[in-house]
Amino acid sequence: MSIQTPKGTRDILPSEIHLWHFVESKVQEIFEVFGYHEIRTPIFEHTELFVRGVGDTTDIVEKEMYTFADKGGRSLSLRPEGTASIVRACIQNRLLDTLPVLKLYYTGQMFRYERPQAGRYREFWQAGVEAFGSANPLLDAEVIDLAYELLADLGLKQLSVQINSLGDDACRPAYTRKLLEYIERHLDDLCGKCVGRYERNPLRVLDCKEAECRTIMVDAPKSLDHLCEDCQQHFEQVQHFLNDLEVDYAVNPYVVRGLDYYTRTAFAVVASGLGAQDEVLGGGRYDKLVESLGGKPTPGVGFAFGLDRLILALEAQGVDLLEPHPCDVYIAAIGTEAEKVALKLSHTLRQQRIKTDMEFAGRSLRAQMKTANKIHARYTILLGDNELARNTVVLRNMQSGDQSEISQMELMETLLEKLNCCSSP
Ligand code: HAM
Repeated sequence: MSIQTPKGTRDILPSEIHLWHFVESKVQEIFEVFGYHEIRTPIFEHTELFVRGVGDTTDIVEKEMYTFADKGGRSLSLRPEGTASIVRACIQNRLLDTLPVLKLYYTGQMFRYERPQAGRYREFWQAGVEAFGSANPLLDAEVIDLAYELLADLGLKQLSVQINSLGDDACRPAYTRKLLEYIERHLDDLCGKCVGRYERNPLRVLDCKEAECRTIMVDAPKSLDHLCEDCQQHFEQVQHFLNDLEVDYAVNPYVVRGLDYYTRTAFAVVASGLGAQDEVLGGGRYDKLVESLGGKPTPGVGFAFGLDRLILALEAQGVDLLEPHPCDVYIAAIGTEAEKVALKLSHTLRQQRIKTDMEFAGRSLRAQMKTANKIHARYTILLGDNELARNTVVLRNMQSGDQSEISQMELMETLLEKLNCCSSP
């Protein structure tokens, strides 16, 4: 049997790559409009970075990391997310002192050993931002606004922005104790996974998808009702600024996130058309993370979204995405002499950045025209012995079928005019 991609991974094929290019170019444009600078970090890091950064009792670290020893015996892990790596890079390269608020963005593959299903992969793509240096709720609001703007600009409809506050060191411990007491009383009725979560990560019982757990957790204490005064004020201000920005959001006390580093604001964006894996984007504030990874105390806030999931949602919602860029010109050449001229002509057309392709297999004109159609060529140049003898070509508009014989001298000018007057998407 031929070798297949490993479970949970897939190829992104030429027929779908235009969707990725579209999203990637929008991501870059909007992130930069908001003042973010790109950073690229390694795909694998020391395992300890994620253990300390993401949290040793999270599902990601406990069960989902691709961890291996290299030939030098070091424990390395494929990155399961971007934030810890960005923080490591900021500390290592002393980036945090360069600007009062440092804004970074990234795009790349992440790896989690999860049970694959629609919208959930073991290798998936994320794009995200991290802003360091300000604990001001203005920045939370700006980051959420950016998330919303980006997804809306990409054409995603029926978006729901959901925000919550998870408190901080001052109020979270007392809240967690109350939550634990509540869960303990209902332990027998919770699903097996939640029993495990109770011991390792009780907050996550709140976002269990099992119907029975959901019913039980309706009456569980919520962090929003147990915030200290500072956290309460912070959350109110975030909402106030979001209202000013006219971001459509809802407060959702069940947004607790699967990573340990969050403090105060946590948020998620869900989109219709995705089924069970409907969360396109997640993020929040992490004011203790830099310190816990060995940097000087520096607040931070950011988000990441799944490109795979976003593209699935755009497709499911029937959002009109740019068609594949067609080939501008296909040169159909009949005979060895014509092929030689076609090669030179392709070279000249490409110098003018006209997307050109030609025949290499010496097939019949009919076969070549079929190829021109298949690759969505806008024009075809037909070159045979007759045209060579007269120093002409036949130029055919593939959409209308109109064609005319023109001299090779005027070909470039004619083509540039035609292509510019109705440029391709
Ligand atoms: P996360 O919620 O774990 O957060 O992931 C963010 C997004 O990545 C999710 O909303 C989802 O769209 C996508 N995603 C996660 N797992 C998978 C998967 N197995 N397959 C496909 N897509 C997936 C983080 O990773 C944080 N680092 C976000 C952040 C940045 N918080 C602050 N700054």
